[in-house]
Amino acid sequence: MDFNLLRQVEPELLDVLAADDPRALRSRKDLRRVHRAMATLSIVQSALDRGTAGFIPHTLLEIGAGDGSLMLRLSRTRADCWRGVDVTLLDRMNLVETPTLEGIHKSGWTPRVVALDIFNWLERPIDSRTDVVIANLFMHHFSSYKLVQILAGIEARSRVFLCCEPRRSALSLLGSHCIGLLGAGSVTRQDAVSSVHAGFRGQELSALWSNPHNWILHEYPAGLFSHCFLAIRKEHI
Ligand SMILES: C[S@@+](CC[C@H](N)C(=O)[O-])C[C@H]1O[C@@H](n2cnc3c(N)ncnc32)[C@H](O)[C@@H]1O
Repeated sequence: MDFNLLRQVEPELLDVLAADDPRALRSRKDLRRVHRAMATLSIVQSALDRGTAGFIPHTLLEIGAGDGSLMLRLSRTRADCWRGVDVTLLDRMNLVETPTLEGIHKSGWTPRVVALDIFNWLERPIDSRTDVVIANLFMHHFSSYKLVQILAGIEARSRVFLCCEPRRSALSLLGSHCIGLLGAGSVTRQDAVSSVHAGFRGQELSALWSNPHNWILHEYPAGLFSHCFLAIRKEHI
């Protein structure tokens, strides 16, 4: 097991498989189990509590939202305090199934799916700011060069940004090699290891944020295997 201090970004198998390929379907199901094992929802909730202290968001955007299952769980736990939120689920593949959308609706939030590559989204004119943009297991897909573009686009379009990514650490690498114990299939087993090599540590994402003066940035390890980056626009505090 080789742990490299430098980030290594390589295409993940899930990104090249067709949406309806059985191996991709299996891997997305695995991801839901991985979220529970990594305590993703509680990590995201704590970061959101910190990021939205003092205001209640009305618009929420998840980039690289996958099947929308994390947003569904978030809506179920948050809807009592954040009422009537407009939710946009952006992913280059349209993976969100009707029961997921119905579940979000049932929580009192209004979901909308945008099947678009993030770079096409960034080319769209900025008409308004989204209160909170979140990303889970998404930012690590990109090289630093592309991350600078994505982060600048988010910066122009949001009040709070949170991402929860793999932590590039020896413990995460060990965990990624053991992910088969959760019953994960071959695609997830391979992608988990690649994800850790492409993950983050230290203040790597803060260093790519173009305008730190107008924002409060927090970047920290979370749980056993995650790395969070939270940016809060100063005018919102
Ligand atoms: C590892 S999955 C994570 C999905 C979801 N956020 C989760 O935590 O279960 C990464 C997601 O990013 C999407 N993705 C990858 N590159 C993208 C791009 N350039 N634009 C938009 N979505 C992209 C993939 O389709 C995939 O659904």
